[in-house]
Amino acid sequence: MANPSLLILAGDGIGPEVMAEVKRIIGWFGDKCGVTFDVSEDLVGGAAYDVHGVPLADATMARAQEADAVLLGAVGGPKYDVLDFSVKPERGLLRLRKEMDLYANLRPAQCFDALADFSSLKKEIVAGLDIMIVRELTSGVYFGEPRGIFPAEDGTRVGINTQRYTTEEIRRVARSAFELARRRNNKVCSMEKANVMESGILWREEVQWVHDNEYPDVELSHMYADNGAMQLVRWPKQFDVIVTDNLFGDVLSDCAAMLTGSLGMLPSASLGAPMANGRPKALYEPVHGSAPDIAGLGKANPIACILSFAMALRYSFDMGDEAARLERAVETVLADGVRTADLMGPEGGTPVSTSGMGDAILAALD
Ligand code: NAI
Ligand code: MG
Repeated sequence: MANPSLLILAGDGIGPEVMAEVKRIIGWFGDKCGVTFDVSEDLVGGAAYDVHGVPLADATMARAQEADAVLLGAVGGPKYDVLDFSVKPERGLLRLRKEMDLYANLRPAQCFDALADFSSLKKEIVAGLDIMIVRELTSGVYFGEPRGIFPAEDGTRVGINTQRYTTEEIRRVARSAFELARRRNNKVCSMEKANVMESGILWREEVQWVHDNEYPDVELSHMYADNGAMQLVRWPKQFDVIVTDNLFGDVLSDCAAMLTGSLGMLPSASLGAPMANGRPKALYEPVHGSAPDIAGLGKANPIACILSFAMALRYSFDMGDEAARLERAVETVLADGVRTADLMGPEGGTPVSTSGMGDAILAALD
């Protein structure tokens, strides 16, 4: 059988720097475990604009559609701020998400014990935390019509966005959440505002329908999203998988992520419908951006990108053991006190470089 294919789009700024460490790790899995991928690389964001005049060439889009998984670094940077909105680097990323129809955005919030002091919350609240937020990514108020700024009857203006969800849009992301729950602790909490929004009532009813008809074995609860925000900060360990819409998910996932420390630690996955081979359409990327303030200095923390690759192993390639092995290596390195600059506390110390962190993780894998 052919090796699974992996398309790497390193992008801009620190994207190529953190991706270089992921490539070494991919190489390690090939050499030491016989786990090999057909890896190809292409351009996205400003890097693509510089060559093609667009942030994602049609040929790259086609390769992404064909790939078993896409791994992306980061896009954007001050150099491109002057560009027209239609060719901004971020548009390349949006095009990928939209055309691959990646409707389920997985954002883990996991607290490595060694970093528990880093949280803005008390150590006992976050130590051992491991939750997963599933955010609907392709519909809702960011996409609903009508939208725009219009003249109002009184001569002033009115700004309109529309929260719109169909039955099928809710059901498919609910299924993603229930599937995940079965691989974790069999527990889903769905968040909306069914008390004040009709789209929230439909959300609650359809999630319940999917549960009752397809996943009765999974424990399901519902919560209003504002209470959910409170509960996330009060006692996050009460949750395992949270499923919510695009807007609430945007806010709640950023909030949950910061429970656990640095932006340099946070991976993500965006999944779509299964392809002919049964694998979901998939894009894996760190949550952080291109970090122009530290680009080129060897200071970037590669862990977010490395953990994104671990998610690819688990969710695209069914290699849960390999993913766990990589995550354990990261945990070991952190427990040993290896830190990039973003993970240094006020007490200071000597940070390792991007490749130094890669070296340490490779050594821990061995
Ligand atoms: P950013 O995430 O690039 O940086 C925010 C801060 O966190 C900076 O101080 C940066 O140095 C630090 N940081 C981020 N990742 C880090 C890492 N791996 N290791 C150590 N420190 C890290 O967000 P910012 O500054 O708002 O945006 C910079 C550029 O990135 C902009 O052009 C923006 O549009 C783009 N961006 C791209 C994203 C993507 O590709 N998915 C997401 C967010 C922003
Ligand atoms: Mg956000």
